[in-house]
Amino acid sequence: MTQRYRLAVIGVGRPWKSDGATGFGMAHSHVQGFAKTGRCDLVAIADIRRDNAEAFAAQYGNPAIYEDYVAMLAAVKPDIVSICTWPHLHAPMTLAAAEAGVRAIHCEKPMAPTWGEARTMHEVCAARGVQLTFDHQRRFLEPFGKARAMVKDGAIGRLLRMEAQCADLFDWGTHWLDMLHYYNDETPAEWVIGQIDCRTDRKVFGVPLEGQGLCHIKFANGVRATLVTGHEADIGCANRLIGTHGIIEIGWDRPVLRAWLKGSPDWAEIPVGEGIHDGVAHERVAADIVRCLDTGDRPLLSSFNAVRATEVIFAAYESSRTRGRIDLPLQTEDSALLTMIEQGLMGPNRKS
Ligand SMILES: NC(=O)c1ccc[n+]([C@@H]2O[C@H](COP(=O)([O-])OP(=O)(O)OC[C@H]3O[C@@H](n4cnc5c(N)ncnc54)[C@H](O)[C@@H]3O)[C@@H](O)[C@H]2O)c1
Repeated sequence: MTQRYRLAVIGVGRPWKSDGATGFGMAHSHVQGFAKTGRCDLVAIADIRRDNAEAFAAQYGNPAIYEDYVAMLAAVKPDIVSICTWPHLHAPMTLAAAEAGVRAIHCEKPMAPTWGEARTMHEVCAARGVQLTFDHQRRFLEPFGKARAMVKDGAIGRLLRMEAQCADLFDWGTHWLDMLHYYNDETPAEWVIGQIDCRTDRKVFGVPLEGQGLCHIKFANGVRATLVTGHEADIGCANRLIGTHGIIEIGWDRPVLRAWLKGSPDWAEIPVGEGIHDGVAHERVAADIVRCLDTGDRPLLSSFNAVRATEVIFAAYESSRTRGRIDLPLQTEDSALLTMIEQGLMGPNRKS
């Protein structure tokens, strides 16, 4: 008989832009994805906001409601836990779930506000055999998969350079840094050089972030990448992959995917049936998590992949602090950005 899995969620939220929403309510996407597998029973949810929990429970089959996630983990002993809280809670919640004997933890991105916390989450779960994944769900969407396949098949010759643009290195950047590793066959970064400007008082999901940033990476296979962030960042698309024989672009809107290949007179749009934000990704994420629990395979969103992108984020911050290139592995545990803000060396209250 096929095994069924007991699912619990920590931090349910309210759907994006609905009454009382404090964010995107990512738990809705997670639970809908797990429901589609037909293999998971939502047995419990934990949220400090009783009203959020009650609304969520009414929508998804009345699971047990807890305010204290530690009590829930002890009482319910779920097989799979989805963590959909803001980043400062990801590490303590992941470690508590691992400690409670949960078999698979699917946590929202970014991993954690500091490199030490992110690395500990990964190392503790890896050592205990807990399947830990982070929601870099775009790996499951067609435009990215097609672009990766084109690179792998040699459509643009040898990959030389990648470019990406988004709002910041941490909250959005975690997606693009993850994607740069995905396009480049999961090759680890060798060194990172970066700079950030924090003159604006910008916070995303409670974490202070740069208003503008720059991160340049050399990967172990010689490929280089640049991520530019902030309100003045503009590379003309979301991701660009440059090879010896052509260029691939992933757009924010239309065309979602296009390429200029050696010998062609102009750009050619590559037909794709999905955009870069499509919710269908969460069905594939959940299916992969369940499949890997069955088989012992490593999921595509494994922390073994997420930790590489995360190290680059904190290396870029560290590069800004030390005014130099950071050779990996990164030796510091904090977030240089948060420490510099605390010390008044960066941010709107910077001492001149
Ligand atoms: N993968 C993506 O594309 C994507 C998109 C948006 C947001 N996110 C990430 O998802 C995470 C959650 O964001 P959101 O927008 O879903 O948040 P949200 O504000 O919609 O929901 C968070 C919920 O957590 C609850 N909570 C707070 N403290 C708690 C505690 N101690 N115990 C239990 N519950 C607690 C809150 O009451 C709230 O209901 C963030 O890390 C964010 O970066 C990812």
